[in-house]
Amino acid sequence: MPRLALSDAAPELAEAELLVLPVAAGDRGPVAPPVTRAVLERLGADLQVLAAGPARLGGAVDDALLLPGYGRVAAGAVLLVGVGGDADRTPETLRRAASVAVAGAGDATTMATALHLAGVDGDAAGAPALAAVAEGTVLAAYRFQRHKTRPAPALGSATLLVGDASLPAAAAALRRAEAAAAATVLVRDLVNEPASAVDPATLAAEAVRLARRSGLRHRVLQAPALRRGRFGAVLAVGGGSAVAPRLVELRYRPDGARGHVALVGKGVTFDTGGLDLKRGGGMEGMKDDMAGAATVLGVMGALAGLGVRTAVTGILPLVENMPGGAAMRAGDVVRARNGVTVEVTNTDAEGRLILADGLALASEARPDAIVDLATLTGSAVVGLGPGCTAVLGNDQALTARVLAAAEEAGEAACPLPLLEDYRRFLDSDVADLVNSTDQPGDVIQAALFLREFVAGVPWVHLDIAGPATAKEARYYQPKGATGCMARTLLAFLEGFGGPR
Ligand code: BES
Ligand code: MN
Ligand code: ZN
Repeated sequence: MPRLALSDAAPELAEAELLVLPVAAGDRGPVAPPVTRAVLERLGADLQVLAAGPARLGGAVDDALLLPGYGRVAAGAVLLVGVGGDADRTPETLRRAASVAVAGAGDATTMATALHLAGVDGDAAGAPALAAVAEGTVLAAYRFQRHKTRPAPALGSATLLVGDASLPAAAAALRRAEAAAAATVLVRDLVNEPASAVDPATLAAEAVRLARRSGLRHRVLQAPALRRGRFGAVLAVGGGSAVAPRLVELRYRPDGARGHVALVGKGVTFDTGGLDLKRGGGMEGMKDDMAGAATVLGVMGALAGLGVRTAVTGILPLVENMPGGAAMRAGDVVRARNGVTVEVTNTDAEGRLILADGLALASEARPDAIVDLATLTGSAVVGLGPGCTAVLGNDQALTARVLAAAEEAGEAACPLPLLEDYRRFLDSDVADLVNSTDQPGDVIQAALFLREFVAGVPWVHLDIAGPATAKEARYYQPKGATGCMARTLLAFLEGFGGPR
């Protein structure tokens, strides 16, 4: 992760390989904000000439133009980056502009940036703009290179230029952005790792390390404790793997907590489908099936640093869905932690099984809210496409708060109905429920299934099967794991017990 710092150096004096300056889109071509105007004058560059040139620098997001510094500024080169029109600029505009800057920075390892000085919401140089540029820069600079013998050079540091670097609000905004970005980066790293490196044992060990370094209370349940605790669904799904299942619980308990939220994350470290083996490319990418658990970990690790004032419990059921000799079979009946029995009609609908145990455990403490995250259904991807989280739940007000947090974080999320009429599809001839139906709309049925385990606690389910990974890089989301919903959940938790 690049180091972030604040500096009140004048832009022409900022020491960095690259100086990044904003250009806004005006009614009649590009407009240089004051910070940019001063540097352009020194360089003898005319914005209208640049706009007419081959780069067509108009000030829209995606526009960028690299100019040499010619020794007239301390930085080696100046990158002009479009930040859109003043009226419709949002934090998301600046996150994207920051990612365009990172893409245009080439092999530069140090950057000084003033993109935030274009401001958002008429709030020039305010904290939201600063945080957005910091987040966008760190998230765009992300590379997963752990297994590269020769890693490519990466951005080492970014300095954000501000009028007064001693302002506490600026420092706080920077720290906040850094913590949220670090949480996202942790999720990406865990999801990008192959399943040979991240299995229920190593992921539990990672959770314990994170708990120790972030001052969280923690416990890890293994087979005997899982049996004593009646986690029948986790044990059944984990049965087919050579690596035994685990259930991790992490507790964040700030002094004078305002409310309590439980987070439950699907942690299937690899999903072969089990005996209902995935075929025809269906298994590709199934190392990502622990993205929900990874997101809970990333979020839990950031709470203390962000000064979140709500108590948060993180629950991670961890299994590998494999077709070993002790694997669950079609027709098996498993009993979840809350006593509800499930006929396994498809071993590939394993996520809802392990979440059943996780949600039942979460409900026992009667938290004020439960949020679960899971790469749960192909149906969510069919319905909403690759980049959008499906949001379902039993409490409209809570759902609205999660959707508002997603909007704030710039993450696509869309509500779907928890249709009561489909509940009948879950009826089983031999048990209380089936885990899979032959009906379309599985994204809804999976959520209805989960509802049977939340015991009336206000609850929101996030199906991240699409957005947990990306097939192409886009702005500050790289190809591969995205770390989606980590920043949304942090925004949600920061606002949970009242205003920040
Ligand atoms: N992990 C998958 C869901 C998934 C599919 C995530 C594609 C990301 C991309 C889940 O465990 C699964 O296999 N779901 C099945 C359920 C079906 C058997 C009822 C599905 O969606 O096909
Ligand atoms: Mn599956
Ligand atoms: Zn799965």
